[in-house]
Amino acid sequence: MPQDAASPTSPRPSRRDFLKTSTVAAAGAVAGGLSIARSAHAAGDDVLRVGLIGCGGRGTGAAVNAMNADPNVKITALADAFEDRLERSLNGLKTRAADRVTADADHCFSGFDGYQKLIDSDVDVVLLATPPHFRPIHLKAAIDAGKHVFCEKPVAVDAPGIRSVLATTEEADRKKLNIVSGLCWRYHLGTQEIMQRVLDGAIGEIVAMQETYNTGFLWHRGRMEDDTEMKFQMRNWYYFTWLSGDHNCEQHVHSLDKASWAMHDQPPARVWGLGGRQVRTDPKFGDIYDHHAVVYEYENGVRLYSYCRQQAGCWSDTTDNFFGTKGRCNVLNSYSIEGKNPWRCEDKGPSMYDLEHQALFAAIRAGTPINNGRYMAVSTMLAIIGRMAEYTGQAITWEQAMNSQQDLSPSSYAWDGVPPTLPAADDRYPVATPGVTKFV
Ligand SMILES: NC(=O)c1ccc[n+]([C@@H]2O[C@H](COP(=O)([O-])OP(=O)(O)OC[C@H]3O[C@@H](n4cnc5c(N)ncnc54)[C@H](O)[C@@H]3O)[C@@H](O)[C@H]2O)c1
Repeated sequence: MPQDAASPTSPRPSRRDFLKTSTVAAAGAVAGGLSIARSAHAAGDDVLRVGLIGCGGRGTGAAVNAMNADPNVKITALADAFEDRLERSLNGLKTRAADRVTADADHCFSGFDGYQKLIDSDVDVVLLATPPHFRPIHLKAAIDAGKHVFCEKPVAVDAPGIRSVLATTEEADRKKLNIVSGLCWRYHLGTQEIMQRVLDGAIGEIVAMQETYNTGFLWHRGRMEDDTEMKFQMRNWYYFTWLSGDHNCEQHVHSLDKASWAMHDQPPARVWGLGGRQVRTDPKFGDIYDHHAVVYEYENGVRLYSYCRQQAGCWSDTTDNFFGTKGRCNVLNSYSIEGKNPWRCEDKGPSMYDLEHQALFAAIRAGTPINNGRYMAVSTMLAIIGRMAEYTGQAITWEQAMNSQQDLSPSSYAWDGVPPTLPAADDRYPVATPGVTKFV
């Protein structure tokens, strides 16, 4: 049996030894007959030091989920572009669990380069919860530095970002590091159960799918007196395609992810769609659309009809519907299968947000890495190709989209830097026009 840190017969390792060996010795532990449960228990006393990058609503929530998931997790470092956001998150976390949030002034990093300083501090695990634009950069930096990652969705806003995430995913495999995705429905027990039934043929062959994420308006954080244009856009990142990917990417990716799951994460052959900006037209709402309708055509003839809308005062509906040769399945909201194999999920299980962190920390401790990188990249790309098809008004193949050279990055990341989109004289940001905007 290899003398890895998880072995109950080996001398008690230092925390650092444990982390080093736990990432590389998984195969040895299993092959040597040591059960995962036992190895996890043996290593369970070791503290895992967690750093949070992006201290907003979700990031702060993810830090709580991490502490809920494992009693020996400590939040030792925080990074946020904005100092006030960081402070608010730190205070909230300390109020909740003072003894487990040890980040002091030397381990709190603001600004655009804060993420690298956090990664370079003594952390074992990094939680990535900034706006999606930064995900490929932060994910790469974390994996390059040998850190385990919890990675919120979506994971990119353009094809170069997706290509970077796929390359980093492979690097994580090579290094036996964990990447657990914030596409949280994959960790929701009720969803896992109903999706497994669909994948096992409960509704026969899937012929069509319909995904909707139709909601009202979201937050807007306004413009501060001393905001540079970069600061304004960063504060209101949701409304700028270069930062959020548009709302079909930022929000609807959850729904696209479930359809992709049903398709075994195989990409569609061709995508076309239509969308626009009818209601949320004030310049403060940047350059994103407020409604999207996209058709995904798969090689085997399956069609995915995908709709999302953020318009106040309209009918709201967030559902997943799969239609098959032997029946149909609704995931959100009824969790039911109708047809030849009727079934309804009665117990949907505990918080999926806690479960994804339980999976991450258990995998680190057992030395059996999880890498969700590929599916989180494919699901995010479904959103990006949909946006490309709508913005240009063209039908776009998966291959074209994956090879797209459109890079939505600014030339530099600085508060006085120039964002990729700027308002015209009437304060309006240029908005994509189907039939005019070119595919790049
Ligand atoms: N899985 C889910 O159910 C779920 C739910 C909500 C949000 N999210 C995702 O989490 C991410 C964050 O969303 P949120 O609602 O917490 O937004 P938010 O605006 O509340 O938080 C984002 C934080 O990131 C900070 N930030 C921006 N750029 C940064 C950078 N370069 N370096 C460091 N910090 C930076 C912002 O200042 C802000 O504090 C998004 O990708 C969103 O899609 C996922």
